Amino acid sequence: MLVCRTFQEIRAYLDNQVRSGKTIGFVPTMGALHAGHVSLIEKSNSMTDITICSIFVNPTQFNKTSDLDAYPRTEEKDVEILKAADCDIVLIPDVKEVYPEGYTSPEIILGGLELLMEGAYRPGHFSGVTQVVGRFFEQLKPDYSFFGEKDYQQLEVIKKMVSQREFNVQIVGCEILREKSGLAMSSRNVRLSEEGLSKSTILIEQLNWVRNNFKNSTIADMVKAVESTFEQQPAFDLEYFEIVNARTLHPVKNKLNKARAFIAVDLEGVRLIDNLALNY
Ligand code: PAJ
Repeated sequence: MLVCRTFQEIRAYLDNQVRSGKTIGFVPTMGALHAGHVSLIEKSNSMTDITICSIFVNPTQFNKTSDLDAYPRTEEKDVEILKAADCDIVLIPDVKEVYPEGYTSPEIILGGLELLMEGAYRPGHFSGVTQVVGRFFEQLKPDYSFFGEKDYQQLEVIKKMVSQREFNVQIVGCEILREKSGLAMSSRNVRLSEEGLSKSTILIEQLNWVRNNFKNSTIADMVKAVESTFEQQPAFDLEYFEIVNARTLHPVKNKLNKARAFIAVDLEGVRLIDNLALNY
């Protein structure tokens, strides 16, 4: 596996490969890799000739410096995981490489997507995400790029950016990988105590409950029930629970359209998010 720190290094290698007709798959990450990330690498390996993974903790998408500082950094272990997963190239740039002095990124109009759910709780987050992913797309020109449904809203935001900036890349959404307990895998989970880990299963339990009751309950009743469950759980601070149209991410108007439930909580100072398809 090739380990690159600069765009120049990686482009020199890619230009040769692309000239010989090979396709490129790109998996952007912030490191602290786990099986969820590996599933994206495997998907890319199955669909493309060359898989590139980036590891970059992007400062522009963090709205709290405490969260940025606490973000786990495990580069050596990540490189081993990527080698074992048959990744071809890992790009580990520093902040100056990604954002050289004077670099400005085009403004993306997200049409309100940036104000819903994650956007409402993390002002500026999605503009940081589109900035960094756009920068990588400009430099790497991948044919395919892989994103987890764990961050479903991010996946929709990226699709919007691609169509606006007319990048020639196909965005592939990949299903959420979970621990045996049902907890969605996340780099942040390592910050939970044993007790926190065992309490955290309530997220998927609540999502499954909504999925099972979707046909026969009203949206308002389900939202009320989930909110009151969390009111009785002092360890949790519920940021939002929403049942929305999976395409628009606005509240469900017609239950026949694809619907998804989204949840975000704070547990032991760790932000956990999850989501589940309800009727498809
Ligand atoms: P990060 O949180 O490292 O996630 C990288 C990719 O892995 C994202 O597409 C995310 O949705 C996916 N992923 C994380 N946990 C997953 C799980 N349990 N199952 C399936 N996929 C999972 O998301 C980011 O980084 C950043 O915002 C980034 C896109 C790299 C831009 O900085």
